[in-house]
Amino acid sequence: MIIYHRRPEMARQLADELLGKHLLSDAPNGLFLAAPRRTGKSNFLQFELKPELEARGCLVVYVDFWSQPDRDPVELLAETLTYEVQKTAGLAKRLAAALSSLKVGTVAVELDLSKLGRPQGHSIAHVLWLLGTAANRKIVVILDEAQHTLTTKAGDAAMFALKSARDQLNTPDGHQLLLVFSGSDRDKLLRLVNSGRAPFYGSTIRHLPELDRGFAIQQAEAMGKVYEWLAPVNVDALFEAFQIVGRRPQFFREVVDAVVKRPATNAAQAQADILHGAREFQRNEARERLQLYLGLHPLEQFVLWRMLEQGASFRPYDADAKDFYGKLLGEEVSTQRVQAAIKSLREREPPIVWKSSRGEYAMDDTQMHGWFKELQASGQWPPGPERELLLARLGRSV
Ligand SMILES: Nc1ncnc2c1ncn2[C@@H]1O[C@H](COP(=O)(O)OP(=O)(O)OP(=O)(O)O)[C@@H](O)[C@H]1O
Ligand SMILES: [Mg+2]
Repeated sequence: MIIYHRRPEMARQLADELLGKHLLSDAPNGLFLAAPRRTGKSNFLQFELKPELEARGCLVVYVDFWSQPDRDPVELLAETLTYEVQKTAGLAKRLAAALSSLKVGTVAVELDLSKLGRPQGHSIAHVLWLLGTAANRKIVVILDEAQHTLTTKAGDAAMFALKSARDQLNTPDGHQLLLVFSGSDRDKLLRLVNSGRAPFYGSTIRHLPELDRGFAIQQAEAMGKVYEWLAPVNVDALFEAFQIVGRRPQFFREVVDAVVKRPATNAAQAQADILHGAREFQRNEARERLQLYLGLHPLEQFVLWRMLEQGASFRPYDADAKDFYGKLLGEEVSTQRVQAAIKSLREREPPIVWKSSRGEYAMDDTQMHGWFKELQASGQWPPGPERELLLARLGRSV
């Protein structure tokens, strides 16, 4: 069991920033939030930030680009907008009226927004403007797992369309369109903001805080009520277990459930068992990563190693990278071979490597970075029987 832990203060603060209540915040130009996988981003955005913004009079459109990763992002965006329009009483009529009075053609009058963002249809900027005008409210578009749009040209185009919509709708007198982007990987989200070619160049990415001690306090209270024999539940121990499982509620629940299902001993034993279960979970996860890594072909391992080491500055085919692979393999490595290795890393199920439509790379499972750092810090990198040999080939000390 776990119960949902709300974070109203965080929702209030983010809404304040977004709506321009903090003079120094850049959030009105686009709010970029990153946090690791399974830490509660989508729930927070959908069930806490969205209602908070709605309570302040905004029309909020939430799109989860991960819900249907194979769909064209523009289509997904259009579909969600259509749904919002239809849901808002009277809006469809007003929108239709606005469209016809503007004589922009009949394509979208029937609210068939399927051509939205297409060359022959209305631009996303136009429809968002109409939507905002017809609803007479600020529009907030929340793009969950926005980095998924970057893997296709169409998605890339959707992001530029949103940027252009933002620039057209936002004047010095006020912001009509506000955008929130979330993703489980800072490196991937960075592609939206970090180069002159990026649609939201200049924005910064911030960390969406993970659930904190408040979560443990609430769970401890709830557990003490439901399982009286556990009371009083030690908050410190529970919070420690939560941290060990990477502050991911789902895995915390698995660990706790396994303990409370066992015949009751006493509170102290249960507490020790929960901590033990959390550590066991952590070890299993590390073991799975290790097996995955050791199961790869040597060149795939070395490409991954390079990626983990270089992070956002990873360039797969530059001279230094090829020198790195070459030294480790003990032979020269061609670009084609590296390409084949990357292809295989991307095509695995689930994929290990992620590539944007502009040819930038990132780890798909961001937690591999933590795993890598830990092994490195404890002198266990690279894993496997050839550690010393490989480090010697790179001229590094063991
Ligand atoms: N505030 C919360 N209190 C308790 N449980 C939560 C909370 N937020 C999320 N969870 C649980 O954690 C799990 C992950 O939540 P959610 O899908 O929101 O995370 P996410 O970061 O968006 O994950 P993903 O990276 O897979 O998109 C779900 O099982 C959800 O029920
Ligand atoms: Mg999510």
